[in-house]
Amino acid sequence: MATIIDGKQVAADVRARVGKDAAALRERTGHTPGLVTILVGEDPASQVYVRNKIKACEEAGMASFHEPMPATSTQGQVLAMVERYNADDRVDGILVQSPLPRGLDFKQVLDRIDPAKDVDGFHPLNVGRLVANQPGLVACTPAGVMELLDATGVALEGADAVVVGRSDIVGKPVALLLLHRSATVTVCHSRTRDLPGVCRRADVLIAAVGRARMITADMVRPGATVIDVGINRTDEGLAGDVDFGPVSEVAGAITPVPGGVGPMTIAMLLRNTVIAAAARHDR
Ligand code: GUN
Repeated sequence: MATIIDGKQVAADVRARVGKDAAALRERTGHTPGLVTILVGEDPASQVYVRNKIKACEEAGMASFHEPMPATSTQGQVLAMVERYNADDRVDGILVQSPLPRGLDFKQVLDRIDPAKDVDGFHPLNVGRLVANQPGLVACTPAGVMELLDATGVALEGADAVVVGRSDIVGKPVALLLLHRSATVTVCHSRTRDLPGVCRRADVLIAAVGRARMITADMVRPGATVIDVGINRTDEGLAGDVDFGPVSEVAGAITPVPGGVGPMTIAMLLRNTVIAAAARHDR
């Protein structure tokens, strides 16, 4: 029976440390780290996510700003809002919640965010820094996956790591982070031949596809560490990309859904905001 990796606990530990780091920065520099959330439109799921980010920010003793914008906003209005906060010294992190309403171009909005305030780690400059293994802001969910692996104590150097999913926001960055820790990394996707066979080689298996319960027990090497990034709404409620019950009989350690990777994303967003604040104010 696998060890269940407690993402809520690991996230709480990160948030407590971030709160202390934010307080120490304020002592040193007189500046309170600040995050602005820009939410365009009224998508209910996005409203919940943004509310949780604001609450977590306040709990960590950080300054929080919120800009709700109507779904009818133009591309120019969203870009102008980004520019306003690029120039606002109270703010160290700018988060534009995705998805944007139809007709708005998220990539162009990301390009406009000051890379020093890009706490999502989505700006091409920060993506390039990640590729080159240079210090920069790293996307929150991939960074959270690495934090969970480290909390579990699994050795990454020389390990066979298999990432299922090649998205820009999870699969690709987490593959790079694993590579930089000297794992042997394989990235699988919809065209991969013999997905079960490739997955069975994994010491560390990261599922980030967005298909409920697609990683089944026969695809998991006994004792492997399994990280489930999926959050899928099904008729029976929330399900990960991993068939949790049967896989937990085979794996050595596994994250649950919910309560695994999910709580880490906000914790890493707060950490990125403090990192951005320190870079801007510690000198
Ligand atoms: N929508 C869902 N997750 C995220 C995220 O991590 N960042 C942003 N900006 N939007 C999201």
